[in-house]
Amino acid sequence: MRINSFHARVIRNSRGEDAIEVIVNKKYIASSPSGASTGVHEVSAYPSKGVRFAVTFLNKYPHFKGFSLEEFSDLSHFDSLVSVIGGNAVVALQLACLKAMSQGKMYSFLDAHARALPIPLGNCVGGGAHARQKTLDIQEFLLVPHAKSFFERAAMNRHVYDVIGKMKNPLGKTDEGAHILSLSDEGTFSFLSELLDSFHSYGMSMKLGVDMAASQFYSQGKYHYNHFSTVKKKVLNPSQQITLVNRWVKKYGLVYVEDPLQEEDFSGFAKLKKNTLVCGDDLITTNIERLKMALKYKSVNAIIVKPNQIGSLVKTKELVDFARKKGITMVLSHRSGETMDASLAHLAVGWRIPYIKIGIFGKEREVKLQELIKIEKEIL
Ligand code: PGA
Ligand code: ZN
Repeated sequence: MRINSFHARVIRNSRGEDAIEVIVNKKYIASSPSGASTGVHEVSAYPSKGVRFAVTFLNKYPHFKGFSLEEFSDLSHFDSLVSVIGGNAVVALQLACLKAMSQGKMYSFLDAHARALPIPLGNCVGGGAHARQKTLDIQEFLLVPHAKSFFERAAMNRHVYDVIGKMKNPLGKTDEGAHILSLSDEGTFSFLSELLDSFHSYGMSMKLGVDMAASQFYSQGKYHYNHFSTVKKKVLNPSQQITLVNRWVKKYGLVYVEDPLQEEDFSGFAKLKKNTLVCGDDLITTNIERLKMALKYKSVNAIIVKPNQIGSLVKTKELVDFARKKGITMVLSHRSGETMDASLAHLAVGWRIPYIKIGIFGKEREVKLQELIKIEKEIL
C-alpha cells in the first residue's frame, strides 16, 4: 500500500473534547479515544501543545506522501513520533494506514483464519470519574453474558440495560452511556445480582463483573468510599480493601474484577484470590514491562488492552502475543471519551482477544457492537 494522500484534522469525541482524525488515501479514516480515569503510566495522549499541534505536525510531515507499507510490522515506522505528537495521534495514524493496507477488512488482514467473536462486557451501571452525579465509588458494573453468538450476547446486554432503565428511573448516564442510579455501591451489587438471578430463572445466563478503577478513590494509603452503603463513608487500608474485594467476589458471584486496588500495588493484587478474573488496567497500562512485573508478583490473571495507553499498535500487538503465551486473559477496551471509529471490533477478532469492553449504549459504542455483528455474519 502506498500513501498517495494524507490528511489529519480535529474532531470531537463523545465527551466533547478535541480528538484527532487521520484520513489516508481519501477514504480510510481513523481516530483515537481519550480516558478520564487514565493510568499514570500511560503515554501522553497529546503533546503539551495540544491536539492542534499534533494535527499541524502531521499535515506538514514530509515523509508520508509516496511512503509504502506492506506488513503490519511496517507500522512501527511511526512509533518514534509518540514523543512529538502523543500516543493518540500515532495510534490514529497507524489505524488509518492499517485500514488502507487491508482495504477495510482489517480483521482478516490480521488473521485470515480468525473465527471467534469476543464476549462483550456490558457497562450497565456506573459512577466514579465517569459520572457527573456522584452516587457511586465503583466506576463500572459490567454484565458478562453467556450465549453462543455475539449477536445474542450483545442483545442480552442491551435487554438488561433497558430493563434497569425502566425499573430504576436513572438520574442520567455516565460518559460510557451506563445508567447513573441513586443506589450505593453495595446497593447496586445487591440490586444487580438479584436482577440477574431473576433472568436465570427463565434461561438467560449472565454473570456480574466490575471495574473499580480504585486509583480514583485511593489517597494517602487508604481507599475512601463516599457511597459505600447506607453507612455512606468508609475508609479502608489496603488489607481491608483486599478482604472486601474477596468478599464481594464470593457474595455476588463476580467473574471479573478490574483495578480493585491502586495502580502501583503489584503485591496487593497478588493477595487477591484468583477464583475470578483479576484484571489490571491502570496497573498495566498496555505496557509489556509492567505486565512482566505483574507476572513476577502473580498479580493478575487478566489485562485490559488499550492501544492508546502505549501509543503504538505494534507494541500493543507485542503485548497481546506475550500475554497469550503467558496464559493471561485479555480484554480489549474502549475509553470513556470515544469516537465513531470501529477498529476495536476488528482488532478483537483479528488478534483473537476473548473479551471486549465497548459499552452498551450511545452511538460511539453501538457502532462497534454493530461492526462485530457484521463481522460475525461474514465469518460464520
Ligand atoms: P477511561 O476509563 O477510558 O476513562 O480511562 C475506562 C476504564 O477505566 O476502563
Ligand atoms: Zn478500567
